[in-house]
Amino acid sequence: MLPLAHRLGIIIGEAFESCGLPAEMGRVTVSDRPDLAQFQCNGAMAAAKKAGKNPRAVAEEIVVRLQTRPEFSKIEIAGPGFININITDAYLSGYLKEAAADDRLGIPATGKGTIVLDYGGPNIAKPMHVGHLRTAIIGESLRRIVAFLGYRALGDVHMGDWGTHMGMIISEYIDTGRADAVMQTDITDGAEVAALMDDLSALYPVVAAACKENEARRARALEATVQIQNREPAHYALWEKMRQASIIGMRANYALLDVHFDLWKGEADVHDLIAPMVEDLKKKGLAREDDGAVIVPVAQEGDKKEMPPLILYKRDGAVMYGTTDLATIVERMNLYSPEKIIYVVDQRQHLHFEQVFRAARLAALVPEGVELIHAGFGTMNGADGKPFKTRAGGVMRLEDMLNMAMEKARARLAEAELAQDMSAVEREDVARKVAIAAIKFGDLQNQRQADYVFDLDRLTSFEGKTGPYILYQAVRIKSLLRKAQEQGAGQPGILSVGDADRTLALALGAFPDSVRAAFNGQAPHHLCDYAFRLAQTFSSFYAACHILSEKDEALRRSRLALCDLTYRTFDRLLSLLGIALPERM
Ligand code: ARG
Repeated sequence: MLPLAHRLGIIIGEAFESCGLPAEMGRVTVSDRPDLAQFQCNGAMAAAKKAGKNPRAVAEEIVVRLQTRPEFSKIEIAGPGFININITDAYLSGYLKEAAADDRLGIPATGKGTIVLDYGGPNIAKPMHVGHLRTAIIGESLRRIVAFLGYRALGDVHMGDWGTHMGMIISEYIDTGRADAVMQTDITDGAEVAALMDDLSALYPVVAAACKENEARRARALEATVQIQNREPAHYALWEKMRQASIIGMRANYALLDVHFDLWKGEADVHDLIAPMVEDLKKKGLAREDDGAVIVPVAQEGDKKEMPPLILYKRDGAVMYGTTDLATIVERMNLYSPEKIIYVVDQRQHLHFEQVFRAARLAALVPEGVELIHAGFGTMNGADGKPFKTRAGGVMRLEDMLNMAMEKARARLAEAELAQDMSAVEREDVARKVAIAAIKFGDLQNQRQADYVFDLDRLTSFEGKTGPYILYQAVRIKSLLRKAQEQGAGQPGILSVGDADRTLALALGAFPDSVRAAFNGQAPHHLCDYAFRLAQTFSSFYAACHILSEKDEALRRSRLALCDLTYRTFDRLLSLLGIALPERM
């Protein structure tokens, strides 16, 4: 079935066509002035410009043709040529009836082809920290949206496992004679893995500092990096051990966050593609030697900012971050031929992606129609407006922050007297869902590129535009529906929209548009805005209308049907955000 606004767009498009204008100019959107109209079409302005006519005259021609259509209760021109549209309650009811009978709530799965989403990027041998949160949360939501719309969605964790940080750590273990002990770690033993990871996280800052200060130490780390990349046995074996141990920790962290990947690949996986790729770039005259390194100049005429070349090999022969990213494009094209690759990575890496994408285009590593998108995001700040840190000023481990959120969620539930009559197990499960909803919704509701302040107090509140508020509203509807069943209030019945429930009905009809907007802009905040609006709209409906106590059976069942559809919309919406909904609270 087609979404509501889409259907209206077809009707209006036909009117455009019958005036000799392109049908797609009849596109209809939910009105941005709900006080004036329910829907709007702005196409007359563009059409008039193209045809060299007066926009109001064009709009008039269109509207005249539509006056008698049974779908509209009002259609009129506003301002320079906007077409404002209201639909009849009967038409709205008809649409909702169909949506209610549809598992997908009126959103067709029309997507074709594959979309790769890159939203992990943790570096192995380092503990996961809050810096990994945004990419995981946004990427998980985008993956779900993409899959729901019918595409084959492939989420790739793309671990950082080939960089100099590996050389630093591995040289440290080898040079201090601890390599054997590390090699003995039994990676099927949780405690041994945890001990190794603790050791690593204590070691890393020390070694990193030593490399910064001491030229010789740094040189040794770089040498070790090359040795790993050349698969020198002792270095490579240690590297593999660390990779395996790290993956165990990563999986646990991502599972806590309810974040999933289809591909557990890393930079190292594309190593063998690098040499032939560089050869190819050289042959095409794009890559060249430069003072012992190999680079690809990517600057273009008209660049406003300096655009440094992409470095493929450093002078010591090591490959760089950009090299593995470029080779990963080659691999992804070979294996999955995606039509889009979306990188959900910190906005501060914008230049890096610009360089990589330009090199990929120059070398024609991707066919023309394939989109390479850097969906960059802003920084998660602390209350002081600076990047979020622990009280002591260090980087906060992901697990610690999740524990903190859990504690807050438990307190909030107790404060609101929710979930108190449950078993300890169920209450703990609800607290976990509230904590995750708080963190994820708190993140996703921001425009992706914007920085935001991570304030657990605010994010876990059951009031305002928060995850817990949305969960609470949805759970409340569920319990109302349960009660209806227990009381024999009748099954949700034929929907008929009237004055009291029109706003809610229209809000339900707008769900597909918010999913579309989130998909088009890689912008889940559209879904959050929608969720908040729906929650508020439902709240007003609930306050103004009798539902269970409604005497008129047909009306009662119609309202129950609206409640049921609202609940299912929340359920779907939250799942697209990667947020789990408890059965009760
Ligand atoms: N490992 C990288 C980092 O720590 C992030 C990787 C993001 N993905 C990518 N394809 N570059 O900054």
